[in-house]
Amino acid sequence: MKITKVFGYQVLDSRGRPTVAASISLTDGSTHTARVPSGASTGSHEAKELRDTGSKHAEKFFAGASVQLAVANINEKIAPLLIEDQISLSSVDNKLSELDPSIDHAQLGANATLAVSLAAALADAHGQNKSLARYFTAEKQLLIPMPMVNILSGGAHANRTMDIQDILIIPVGAKSFTQALSWIVAIREMAAKLGKESGAVTNLIADEGGLAIAFDSVEKACEFVTKSIEKVGLKVGTEVALALDVAATQFFDGNKYNFATTNKSYTSAEFVKYIGDLTSNQPIISIEDPFAEDDWQSWQNFSEIAPKKLQVMGDDLLTTNLDRLNQAIASKSANAILIKANQNGLVTSTLNVLKQARANNFNTVVSARSGENEDSWLADLAVGWSAGQIKVGSTHGSERNAKWNRLLELEATEECRFLNPFN
Ligand code: PGA
Ligand code: ZN
Repeated sequence: MKITKVFGYQVLDSRGRPTVAASISLTDGSTHTARVPSGASTGSHEAKELRDTGSKHAEKFFAGASVQLAVANINEKIAPLLIEDQISLSSVDNKLSELDPSIDHAQLGANATLAVSLAAALADAHGQNKSLARYFTAEKQLLIPMPMVNILSGGAHANRTMDIQDILIIPVGAKSFTQALSWIVAIREMAAKLGKESGAVTNLIADEGGLAIAFDSVEKACEFVTKSIEKVGLKVGTEVALALDVAATQFFDGNKYNFATTNKSYTSAEFVKYIGDLTSNQPIISIEDPFAEDDWQSWQNFSEIAPKKLQVMGDDLLTTNLDRLNQAIASKSANAILIKANQNGLVTSTLNVLKQARANNFNTVVSARSGENEDSWLADLAVGWSAGQIKVGSTHGSERNAKWNRLLELEATEECRFLNPFN
């Protein structure tokens, strides 16, 4: 089947900010559309999202953050190269790489390349009469990932109501994805109820749908989530465990880690100790970005002392970038990677990063961004790539629930197995 049309345009994300959509039409009359997400707590080594700030395209009412340059790159530079081609994700990605060979896709914009690359994946899957999940896996049984879900959020997503970015839960004892999700919803409801009873403001929802309840210490926030788990009748640790996204780059000044609410500053060595104590005193099984994106030494020092079963995960550290992943493998700085397609810019090279991680015994967690949209391709990628884990935010907001609902659909309609990477 051949490509008849490639079309880019500007749409809105869950924060009401502009983002890129791309459609690919095929000779059978079908059209396949993908919209790209956008981060707020971004790492500086991510692929470059092109925004119009400072250019003649900048739209006044979007504060210059419109994406018309990226859209123009799709319509004027990318589309003419692809029209009349047989639909194939790998050949689309190859052409995008030839057009902009920079690793960070700064010329075309990673938002332009990823939108086209995802639309190509959807169109190619359609050409093969498969869902996107099935397109990527030849196995009969699909592997449904373990969810990692926000309960409390602070940091850049919630006006810094808490020093670290997120406290999440992982329903390690659930026997199915459907059961996992029902536990999570109940715990989130309980957290909202307990917050309200304690007089906290609970109607503030963070960008990823977590509760933006203010806490004056990380320990108290962890204990609050633990209490919410117990109150719904689930066992902390064996049934539901905690995960943190520290997002430490956000409060590292190049020299010290500065907690704003507690007014405490830590040297790198002190912060390694702080994280060590926190993870051993709380029922935490996964910790993301406990140190800043270029503080490799702290990552290495912590990984040396961390219990083997603790998941130590790089988001801003690794930015779904093969070179940075290889550096982490060589220096033993982490044992898990967050996989965000828009940190990378192409579907095939994102998959290559995931494969390299897996080949080196890293856990892989496919992840949404804080600025999301109603698409659900992320769920299909997580399943199709047998990622093992998925992180989407909370169970609040249709841009989040679109992904959970797609996983529920796959579990209900396909031959599946629910993965537990923490067993
Ligand atoms: P972001 O946050 O999408 O704003 O970067 C998500 C995360 O840090 O995991
Ligand atoms: Zn993160």
